[in-house]
Amino acid sequence: MNLIVNGSEVEIVSPPLTPLLHVLRDELDITGPKAGCQQGGCGTCTVLIDGEPRRSCLTAVAAVDGASITTIEGVGQAEELSAVQAAFYKHYAAQCGFCTPGMVLAATALIERKGGPVERDEVLEALGGHYCRCTGYVKIIDAVMAASRGEVDSVDDLPVPEPGQPEVLPKGSPA
Ligand code: FES
Ligand code: FES
Repeated sequence: MNLIVNGSEVEIVSPPLTPLLHVLRDELDITGPKAGCQQGGCGTCTVLIDGEPRRSCLTAVAAVDGASITTIEGVGQAEELSAVQAAFYKHYAAQCGFCTPGMVLAATALIERKGGPVERDEVLEALGGHYCRCTGYVKIIDAVMAASRGEVDSVDDLPVPEPGQPEVLPKGSPA
């Protein structure tokens, strides 16, 4: 089996019924998609499959053989955040960050689908199956609406590690 993950073609050796979530995290070491409920209920494992948000915990890898997969690692870089990522940062829409990759990917798909400003009820519908244990929904919704309107300043104040300190801006996160 083969996947195109964040633009790069990779060969998959996991068994065909392995959830895509575990292929990404355990075989490919891409840890942006988070393992939450692993039953389809929380949204934290969401990735884009051919541009559509899908729960990777419920998706057998064989079912998406040949597909294009986008994780949060493929959306932006620390030096060049996407509009949704920058809006989350500016609006303090991430607290612990566990739900954030799934939220950002679902919001990105919504904005691309709409092709312009999105309303609050559209954000609520798109993120309806995404749970934030830190209960930061208002700021998340505000961030998505701002990103859809292009009302996001560039981010130029991310923390930079001091020499000798560990990297503080990992792709995804080790969690
Ligand atoms: S981990 Fe997939 S929906 Fe919760
Ligand atoms: S920011 Fe902590 S779960 Fe959402």
